[in-house]
Amino acid sequence: MKLKIPDYFSKIKPYVPGKPVEEVQREYGIDNPIKLASNENPLGPSPMAVGAIRRAIAKLHRYPDAGGYELIQSIAEKNNIAPENIVLGNGSDDIIALLARVLLRPDDEVILPQPSFLFYEISILTSGAIPVWVPLKSFETNLAGMLRKISPKTRMIFINVPHNPTGTIISRHDFEEFIAEIPPQIVIVLDEAYIEFVRESNCANSFEFLRTDKAIVGIRTFSKAFGLAGLRVGYGVMPSALAELLHRVRQPFNVNTLAQVAASAALNDTEFLQKTVDLVHNELEFIYGVLEKLEMPYIRSQANFFMVKVGDGRTADEVFENLLKQGVIVRSLTSYGYSEYIRVNIGKHEENIRFLEAFEQVI
Ligand SMILES: Cc1ncc(COP(=O)(O)O)c(C=O)c1O
Repeated sequence: MKLKIPDYFSKIKPYVPGKPVEEVQREYGIDNPIKLASNENPLGPSPMAVGAIRRAIAKLHRYPDAGGYELIQSIAEKNNIAPENIVLGNGSDDIIALLARVLLRPDDEVILPQPSFLFYEISILTSGAIPVWVPLKSFETNLAGMLRKISPKTRMIFINVPHNPTGTIISRHDFEEFIAEIPPQIVIVLDEAYIEFVRESNCANSFEFLRTDKAIVGIRTFSKAFGLAGLRVGYGVMPSALAELLHRVRQPFNVNTLAQVAASAALNDTEFLQKTVDLVHNELEFIYGVLEKLEMPYIRSQANFFMVKVGDGRTADEVFENLLKQGVIVRSLTSYGYSEYIRVNIGKHEENIRFLEAFEQVI
């Protein structure tokens, strides 16, 4: 077989997901591992979403609503956005991939923080476009550095608030100043996968900037605060002309029936959302306190995860492996360029205690 494949495909490194619990059970013979590696919701799915799924099961012989009418209406009403600005995706990954497919051609440039959520790079390279990396500055997005990288070839800029893996944010004021410098033809993507967890009131929020003349896209997901990672549903909010292009090229039924009804229900499950956010905030403070006693440096986070330095001659990969042996799955950040840091997401209180006990032993 002799496939004719564009050269730029060879640069794509496969996405490495967090290790599944079942794999750790098999490989390490551990009964009850805990997973704190993919920033999922430890409380499970929204109960209202589960109810909606039960009611929709009888309709599974039908195709989903290709237009996602109910879910789009719910998102629009909840956030005071026009339905024509919303595109649903099979996870927010789908929106990222669709934006790249519609907007990027070989040799176009995309500016993004280094490190970033790994799927941005995969999407950029799939289109033959060139990622232009701007290293974080003190773990924060370096907006001035990004502005300096703008060239006639720049098509898109990725920003992630709160940033994965650091959990840092951008203030509304800094974002305002930043977008004022961006030419209107460059699409500014603000990935807000963890926005529901933000406690800082001055955090930039894409929805506040939609009515400007800038091409701003906000990306949101039901995978994190709403507890629906396994269903795959997210959305993008963008100028209607761009939304129309994404609708033309997306799979007609890209969001399945159960995902649509569950996401609509989860949006109205304010009790579950509040419980989730409260848990994350309380547990972050609890964990920070223990890490301070252990004298382990960490980065204060506005998301549902945090980074902690393993330091003192240890590598993140070693600590990751040793935690795995105790049945605690976290993320080594070596592949993100931080070989001395692990990323841990907030679990239930007892899971966090188990992580802290295992961590203390390992270090
Ligand atoms: C920053 C960021 N964006 C997007 C995603 C993709 O989320 P999903 O495709 O589940 O909506 C993730 C998942 O971890 C993420 O961390």
